[in-house]
Amino acid sequence: IANSFTTKALTGKRVVITAGPTQENIDPVRYITNHSSGKMGFALAEAAVEEGAEVILISGPVSLATPDRVERINVVSAQDMLVACESVMPSDIFIAVAAVADFRPQVVAKQKLKKQPDNEQGLLLELVRNPDILATIAAREDRPFCVGFAAETENLLEYAEKKLKAKNLNLIVANDVSNPAIGFNSDDNMITLVDRELNTTRLALTSKAKIARRLMELITSYYLKETH
Ligand code: CTP
Ligand code: CA
Repeated sequence: IANSFTTKALTGKRVVITAGPTQENIDPVRYITNHSSGKMGFALAEAAVEEGAEVILISGPVSLATPDRVERINVVSAQDMLVACESVMPSDIFIAVAAVADFRPQVVAKQKLKKQPDNEQGLLLELVRNPDILATIAAREDRPFCVGFAAETENLLEYAEKKLKAKNLNLIVANDVSNPAIGFNSDDNMITLVDRELNTTRLALTSKAKIARRLMELITSYYLKETH
């Protein structure tokens, strides 16, 4: 019989979730970013609270309200996001939903870049690679159970499986972002969860809130299987 003392599956567990885009500054007034809205990561944070977890949501710049009982840390760049993630380790589960910018300008100009006689033909912006936050967390000695998201426009499952292996993850969520009805700014989503044995579970097109609840249940049951 359910009562108010029922222990939820993730009671006492810490879940860290990254969400949203990152912003990489070019100069004081310009930056590079992407179309991530943060909706999926925020919905997962809410679902993790419902499983009883202590939830820390590390978010890039988005315009979303923080779900109840979620501790939110706001960051701007990929480097900031990595520092924030490391500062809340160890954790039991790490879910990387953020669309982290893969590259950032090599130098951030101190002053606004001006049009000059020497850039009449164009401007070459030198970019360097950002750290891979998920791979860095998954390589820790005290590594949490790690879940990644693979946003792809082609060869969805093939690329997702490669990322699962390359980053040494427990699970990866394959997300087809070529379809404008799902992914990024949409309220709906459709995903395929892939485990280390390459078993797949498809979650059909529905709201991000419903997908998040079902996905969090699946992540929880994989996590419990692995740790018991
Ligand atoms: N990720 C991350 N840090 C990065 C890049 C990606 O933590 N610097 C995480 C994302 O949050 C996601 C997963 O890695 O959970 C896969 O991200 P994705 O952009 O699909 O893959 P990449 O490894 O960056 O490869 P590519 O963009 O070249 O497909
Ligand atoms: Ca990427």
